[in-house]
Amino acid sequence: MKIGILGSGAVSKSLAAGFVKHGHAVMLGTRQPAKLAEWAAHNLKTDVGTFAEAAAFGDLLVLAVKGSAAAEALRAAGPANLAGKPIIDTTNPIADTPPVNGVLRFFTSLDESLMERLQREFVDARFVKAFNSVGSSVMVNPQFEDGKPTMIICGNDEAAKKSVGGILDQFGWETADMGKAEAARAIEPLCMLWCIPGFLRQDWRHAFKLLR
Ligand SMILES: NC(=O)c1ccc[n+]([C@@H]2O[C@H](COP(=O)([O-])OP(=O)(O)OC[C@H]3O[C@@H](n4cnc5c(N)ncnc54)[C@H](OP(=O)(O)O)[C@@H]3O)[C@@H](O)[C@H]2O)c1
Repeated sequence: MKIGILGSGAVSKSLAAGFVKHGHAVMLGTRQPAKLAEWAAHNLKTDVGTFAEAAAFGDLLVLAVKGSAAAEALRAAGPANLAGKPIIDTTNPIADTPPVNGVLRFFTSLDESLMERLQREFVDARFVKAFNSVGSSVMVNPQFEDGKPTMIICGNDEAAKKSVGGILDQFGWETADMGKAEAARAIEPLCMLWCIPGFLRQDWRHAFKLLR
């Protein structure tokens, strides 16, 4: 598939490497393509462009920008370039104020997630929340002693979730679909939980598993 990744941070780079590893074509989008020149020189199979160029390139998109800038980045990408496409939404609504005893603060409430806000503004895009509840270093084919981890996802469009489920299979995850966009109210805070052992004990290597 052709994958357009909006973002230039740790998540974008980790997922870009994963997509290339699994044979996909990738373009990373950023406000300043020039700043990725050195990275691009070492990642020859990945193109770099603007947010709009990456969004136009991809059949499937990944949103991996700072949560508070997500809507701005999507506006720059251009709603026409998003229409009808699955968008893996990795973002978390992390506030600029510091964590309290290792617990991040969010700028959203438990009655409205960031993904719902984005879905409401970009009505023709097909957002799927995924990869937000795990660190960038363990997103692609992670090996854990206790077996395959679970990626908890949600989104309004069934076909988009199926496409993302296929990617998750390739990336070594089992998928637990929690339903429509409102489930992001519960999935986004999993990021807070995931980060606590990191902030308290420098333990950043774990993932969630749903047992049945
Ligand atoms: N880091 C992790 O391990 C991790 C794990 C799970 C989920 N997440 C979530 O994934 C997202 C990406 O995280 P990250 O750590 O890779 O990167 P990040 O530092 O949170 O964000 C960097 C990206 O945000 C963009 N950005 C910042 N301000 C902007 C603005 N005003 N307008 C447009 N774009 C703007 C930057 O654009 P430019 O390229 O133009 O500078 C850059 O691409 C975040 O929402 C984060 O909460 C992170």
